[in-house]
Amino acid sequence: MRKGAFRLGQVHVLDHPLIQHKLTHIRDKRTGTKEFRALVQEVAMLMVYEITRDLPLTEVTVETPVATAKTKVIAGKTLAIVPVLRAGLGMVEGILNLIPAAKVGHIGLYRDPETLQPIEYYCKLPAHVSDRDVIVVDPMLATGGSAAAALTAVKQRGVREPKLMCLVAVPEGIATVQEQHPDVEIYVAAVDDHLDDHGYIVPGLGDAGDRLFGTK
Ligand code: URA
Repeated sequence: MRKGAFRLGQVHVLDHPLIQHKLTHIRDKRTGTKEFRALVQEVAMLMVYEITRDLPLTEVTVETPVATAKTKVIAGKTLAIVPVLRAGLGMVEGILNLIPAAKVGHIGLYRDPETLQPIEYYCKLPAHVSDRDVIVVDPMLATGGSAAAALTAVKQRGVREPKLMCLVAVPEGIATVQEQHPDVEIYVAAVDDHLDDHGYIVPGLGDAGDRLFGTK
């Protein structure tokens, strides 16, 4: 098992001390929008550092000012990140700080008021997305409905084995994703206790979108 993570089936809990420390400040209700946004970006960067730990490398040679060096670069597929609107946007810049060449797609979903099922209203993915490693980004894995629908959407466009990255999850949300997508590895900073009657994660961090964009 990789350092900095522990695993519950296909769920990787990224327990690096910096991630956990920053998550505590993200959770704190006294943290204002500016700091909340910065911390979410920082945690996203640290999480993607852990998630990409197993990327394959290939050997190349470069001329240093002194000699020829046999050295390594990342091999194979390039990365695409796909935030689920709107809160997923809050993690994008942090990931791009570390992987500036990553492409970015977007998925928008709303909940049908009658069936309560997530309905896709927007999906724009990078060209040749099926040739890329894809990470779907959704900070709060609550019921799991939106994340599962977003994973379905990218798979319908040819993506194989996308990964899912969330800040905080609850067991119900993890179970929903696992039922619908047993092939998907899920990366989280924390697994919290339960959902309350309003669908909030407990203890959670409140409404991630509102706190990121200052809309409440
Ligand atoms: N979405 C949020 O932003 N927060 C929750 O607690 C649950 C879903």
